[in-house]
Amino acid sequence: MSTARMFPLLDAGTPTSVETARPSKRKSPAGISTNVLVLSAYQATNDVVFPLVLSLYVTPGSTVADITYGKGVFWSRVPKDAYRLLSTDLEQGVDCRKLPYADGSIDCVVFDPPYMHTPGGSAHVEHQNYEDYYKNNEAPDGLTEKYHEAVLQLYIQTRAEAHRVLGKDGIYIVKCADEVCANQQRLTHVEIINDHTANGFVVEDLFIVVRVNKPGVSRMLRQVHARKNHSYLLVFRKGTTPARWKGPRPRSQAQQPVFLQEEVPKLP
Ligand SMILES: C[S@@+](CC[C@H](N)C(=O)[O-])C[C@H]1O[C@@H](n2cnc3c(N)ncnc32)[C@H](O)[C@@H]1O
Repeated sequence: MSTARMFPLLDAGTPTSVETARPSKRKSPAGISTNVLVLSAYQATNDVVFPLVLSLYVTPGSTVADITYGKGVFWSRVPKDAYRLLSTDLEQGVDCRKLPYADGSIDCVVFDPPYMHTPGGSAHVEHQNYEDYYKNNEAPDGLTEKYHEAVLQLYIQTRAEAHRVLGKDGIYIVKCADEVCANQQRLTHVEIINDHTANGFVVEDLFIVVRVNKPGVSRMLRQVHARKNHSYLLVFRKGTTPARWKGPRPRSQAQQPVFLQEEVPKLP
């Protein structure tokens, strides 16, 4: 399947070559002039940006494990036959830190966990719906930390599991957002990058997703930090040495996922 058909957003216009009146004998570098590009920042929703990230980093036909599938919003604009999608979530009883896949059997892991801490019904009381959606009112099993440190702990524990199930050069797409916690600036994306690059991943890309609507705050007294209205999609590659990334490669037919359990997670 062509990238244009898979990702119509990328097909907004066909790149045009710069025309010359007469063929020149001068050797010119290959390539075309275009502004039809995937950009690093969009004011858009996740369902718009996510397919663009896939288009740069994940070979069509690859096996992709979305380990916090939720309502599947990320996938709403991705053609159903583009990837072999394995979707799991805590809601279905699959913890992202204990995945039912064999070592090295997955091409890409997608992780979009609850990424804001909750003080448990005090300062965030007006955000209960939000908190409920993100299943963030209780520390999941296995987390010993609280608040922002608990958010980070989930990323760190999941990084180890993603590393286990990914094959060589496997891609790990991580959604996160920075936060101010107890009036202290916590640049979560920096903390995650520092942890992951020290533990078997190379950072390949960083996408910024800017909210389309205007955020507010409840019970404002005095603003002391910028109100955040952006989040990130980080792209890591399994490996320890930076290498020249040449884009998604044709996938080997022989590379099929192996399941640890008899029951294969349901395709959506
Ligand atoms: C932000 S939502 C994911 C939204 C999803 N990307 C979508 O497109 O709809 C976070 C999800 O993480 C799940 N979750 C929270 N803790 C988890 C865990 N330990 N293991 C697996 N899933 C978890 C929640 O059930 C929730 O569905």
